[in-house]
Amino acid sequence: PSVLLLWLVLGYALGSIPFGIVVARAMGLGDLRKVGSGNIGATNVLRTGNKTAALLTLLLDAGKGAAIVLVARALAGEDAGQVAGVAAFLGHCFPVWLRFKGGKGVATFLGILLAAAWPLGLAACATWLALALALRISSLSALAAAALSPLWAWLLGVPEVIALCLALTVLIFVRHASNIRRLMDGTEPRIGKR
Ligand code: G3P
Repeated sequence: PSVLLLWLVLGYALGSIPFGIVVARAMGLGDLRKVGSGNIGATNVLRTGNKTAALLTLLLDAGKGAAIVLVARALAGEDAGQVAGVAAFLGHCFPVWLRFKGGKGVATFLGILLAAAWPLGLAACATWLALALALRISSLSALAAAALSPLWAWLLGVPEVIALCLALTVLIFVRHASNIRRLMDGTEPRIGKR
């Protein structure tokens, strides 16, 4: 248990690095929290008009989730990997540095799934990408990809990660409360429109 606590702390610490804010500031795009939805994720970085910064944010936020799962699993086993992944996700959504006002967890979720079971991660990424290209609404694509992830886990023969998918999907829906309201009002902005 003390080992799992260590991975909980390490996962949270890595997950709580808000790469969207870091990348936007480093690339001279200003304070991301004053842009668009005010969120710290890649979708909102894209609203600055800088696609490279958005892609970098996506890769770094996904990368931190994937990295901590891979390292924890290699050093301490399957349970540690999952605990570290959940902790990184919580760190991203509730970072102490931003007074617990963090992101919505989509990129980090995809990174965690890629590391936990790569065919599942690829399926979730493909679902999100296909929906984003078809619907051009980032939040709706993420919500649908997350909601389908337990089904993908089952179909792809990795039942050991179904609970992880379910738990993170619930949190993703909670973090998208304002998006869900806008989706129901028909006012959620489309990708590529500021
Ligand atoms: O990844 C977050 C995305 O699903 C929604 O972001 O900025 O449109 O609220 P945003």
